[in-house]
Amino acid sequence: MNIEMSQTNLLDMDLDCLVSYVFEDEIDPSLESLELNKSLSDYITDLINDGEVNGRFGQLNLVHTHKNAKQKRILFAGMGKKQDFNLDRARKLAANVAKFIRNKNFSVSGALAGRIELPKAIAVSDFFSAIVEGASLGLYTFEDHMRKKGDSTKPESSSLLLGGLGGLTNKQQDAVHKAVETAKVVSESAKLARDLVNEPANLMTPTILAERAKLAAKDTKLDYQSLTKKQIEKLGMGAFLGVAKGSHEEPKFIILKYSGDPKNPDKELGLLGKGITFDSGGISIKPAANMSAMKGDMGGAAAVIASMYGVARLELKINITALVPATENLPGGSATKPGDLLTAMNGTTIEVENTDAEGRLVLADALAYANDQGLSPLIDIATLTGAIGVALGSVSMGLFSNDDTLANQLNESSLDTGEKMWRMPLWDEYKDQNKSTVADIKNTGGRQAGSITAAQFLHEFAGDTPWAHLDIASVFMSSKVDGIYQKGATGQPVRTLISLFTKLAAK
Ligand code: BES
Ligand code: MN
Ligand code: ZN
Repeated sequence: MNIEMSQTNLLDMDLDCLVSYVFEDEIDPSLESLELNKSLSDYITDLINDGEVNGRFGQLNLVHTHKNAKQKRILFAGMGKKQDFNLDRARKLAANVAKFIRNKNFSVSGALAGRIELPKAIAVSDFFSAIVEGASLGLYTFEDHMRKKGDSTKPESSSLLLGGLGGLTNKQQDAVHKAVETAKVVSESAKLARDLVNEPANLMTPTILAERAKLAAKDTKLDYQSLTKKQIEKLGMGAFLGVAKGSHEEPKFIILKYSGDPKNPDKELGLLGKGITFDSGGISIKPAANMSAMKGDMGGAAAVIASMYGVARLELKINITALVPATENLPGGSATKPGDLLTAMNGTTIEVENTDAEGRLVLADALAYANDQGLSPLIDIATLTGAIGVALGSVSMGLFSNDDTLANQLNESSLDTGEKMWRMPLWDEYKDQNKSTVADIKNTGGRQAGSITAAQFLHEFAGDTPWAHLDIASVFMSSKVDGIYQKGATGQPVRTLISLFTKLAAK
């Protein structure tokens, strides 16, 4: 479905469906805002008085106009109470409206999105962004490998036109047009992350992941590089290689560089993503149930690659280097064994107590490399621990940071995008659980506070550099269809990262 700004007044257009948004507490039975009500002999007034159209959040009413209007149908979309309305609700509603339209096979629909008196805190341009993101993400499908396709076969040529700008100032209209273009790029980026995660592990090996990163770079002003196993060995990334040893697939260390602020070459952010293309657990093998979900253990890497793609397409004034250590974690004949010792690139020795705690091992070397390169601040994204889901459920990811400013900035962006995160503590006391009797540190900290001890392990390699870690294991997949989410990959936290980088670039 094409989502476009309408060039003409939607009320003058022949449409299959006209979408009208209504607040529950401000629903106006005379519906003066909708001229169509008159041509329908106040039919809509009756529906409102009967309580059939009531504006309750999420309610969708399809009304036929029986040749009394250019628009064959009107779809009333309930926005709920005005005081409860926010951008998250806007995205969810837009997703459900778009799915409704798709399921009906309408070819041209229009949404009067500019005609609503929004709560003061919501700018009309942000409302339009939310509608574009909601519709675009809500309509996402992953059906490339199906011979008999479903939703993705619904007319590609169908379109949703956004309009109702008549009452807005020129300045507002400009802001809306810009916001819509940005929202499209942001949604495409989030969908790229979903695609990478949904792909099965045999079709998303480290080599293929690197190729996909290269492809994203080719379309944009990103500089792509991928280090081979030999180069990784030369750098001394013993922790990363210790994980890669159990697989025949060649590991890759993917580097994407974006220089949007060449006047400040010494200011360069480091963005790191866990790129385990399949996590069997290694010798400490996982149980069979749900192991297939571990094809998505490169969700951090996917988010990193996809947000770099978005940042480059938006040409933000910022410098970012993205680092992705990519490998499988398999129990091959030469796999690392529990009890083995590894030496990371910064010299730290690590006792591998459990080969299933591999994410922190590959990120240890990536963080050391980032520090070597002088990148700051550092943000890593990783499907790191099952324990984060125990702590926060599938509602929120975990945020860990040694820097309040960075943590607050991430938190703020997360509130804007609805990709929830909750800050967890990094108190020194938790470090004790990672103490080894034979090496500098060990890679597990016992059952208690599993996500925090994992984060403390990473902290060791981030050092004093301002750093934040997002544990996305709780949110990278959705088990149900829900608003903008389908079953499968969510694409979190791509929208939040792009929002953060947009704010940092404006500073
Ligand atoms: N990739 C997993 C974490 C994970 C679990 C991600 C569920 C998504 C969904 C990670 O590598 C892992 O296996 N972590 C272990 C750590 C433990 C061995 C200390 C875990 O969470 O059990
Ligand atoms: Mn694991
Ligand atoms: Zn893992």
